[in-house]
Amino acid sequence: MKKITKAVFPVGGMGTRFLPATKSIPKELLPIIDKPLIQYAVEEAIEAGIETLIFITSASKHAISDHFDPMPDLRAKFVSQNKQHLVKKLDTLPLEIQRVFIPQGQPLGLGHAVLQAEAMIEDDEMFAVILADDFIQAEYNPLRRLIAVAESNGRATISVEAVERQRISSYGVIAPGQWQGDHVSVNEIIEKPDAASAPSEFGVIGRYVLPQSIFAVLSQTQMDKNHEIQLTDALKELIQLDGLQAVKLAGQRFDCGSQDGFVLANLHVAMQDGDLNQKIRSYLTEH
Ligand code: UTP
Repeated sequence: MKKITKAVFPVGGMGTRFLPATKSIPKELLPIIDKPLIQYAVEEAIEAGIETLIFITSASKHAISDHFDPMPDLRAKFVSQNKQHLVKKLDTLPLEIQRVFIPQGQPLGLGHAVLQAEAMIEDDEMFAVILADDFIQAEYNPLRRLIAVAESNGRATISVEAVERQRISSYGVIAPGQWQGDHVSVNEIIEKPDAASAPSEFGVIGRYVLPQSIFAVLSQTQMDKNHEIQLTDALKELIQLDGLQAVKLAGQRFDCGSQDGFVLANLHVAMQDGDLNQKIRSYLTEH
């Protein structure tokens, strides 16, 4: 099997929960303190061995491409002023990493976004998909773990986490087989089940390693009632065709596509910084 070296970043969603900010800024550029969500996701991918980044963008937004462009004049200025800490912040992407931008055209769902990457993936190749708005803080790189499990047997692999009962109806939930350490074969995925009928506590989150065969499945996947092609529907089909396995996330995830998740992610990171930690504590004591 070919080494997994390509990652797809679907960044073409409308981000309606963050309007009006998302009128001109893709939600993946919203920062956790000073670093955009997409930058965290790209760093995770590169650390996991990814060499080609494929961004599926909404047609009118160039801000993500701008974010990863070099700024030679400002960089030279910081270098001449010996401000190495600022130079480091400007270097958002190593030069050897290839990046490709593909417009989604219309926001017809996550499955439709992933389908746009088809021409970039070879027949026998597996690739990663990262949803940058699922912000993860973990002791080890979550994508690297997913890739290791996928490469060990060549099967599609998704990431899941234990979800609180009252939130389970917002997730695709897996029916797992027998766990082997942190991974398991998936028997079924139920989309947004009632808490009472959920087949497990494990909800699907935004890290996937998929085979090239997913594109044939996605191109046959019917639109849902909201006129979107859902990746989960294609994954259900993939279970029947090739099998699917899941890896349990060991870490903390924040759903930064929702306002509470985004604020908590900022708080979580801020509390790890000595100075910010102090200021937040004294603010909370006073209010
Ligand atoms: P969401 O389900 O969070 O949708 O997308 P959204 O449109 O971005 O946000 P809301 O619900 O309107 O607030 C999950 C991921 O899939 C991408 C998003 O950019 C996000 O990373 N996505 C979604 C696309 O790339 N294209 C789409 O058509 C839909």
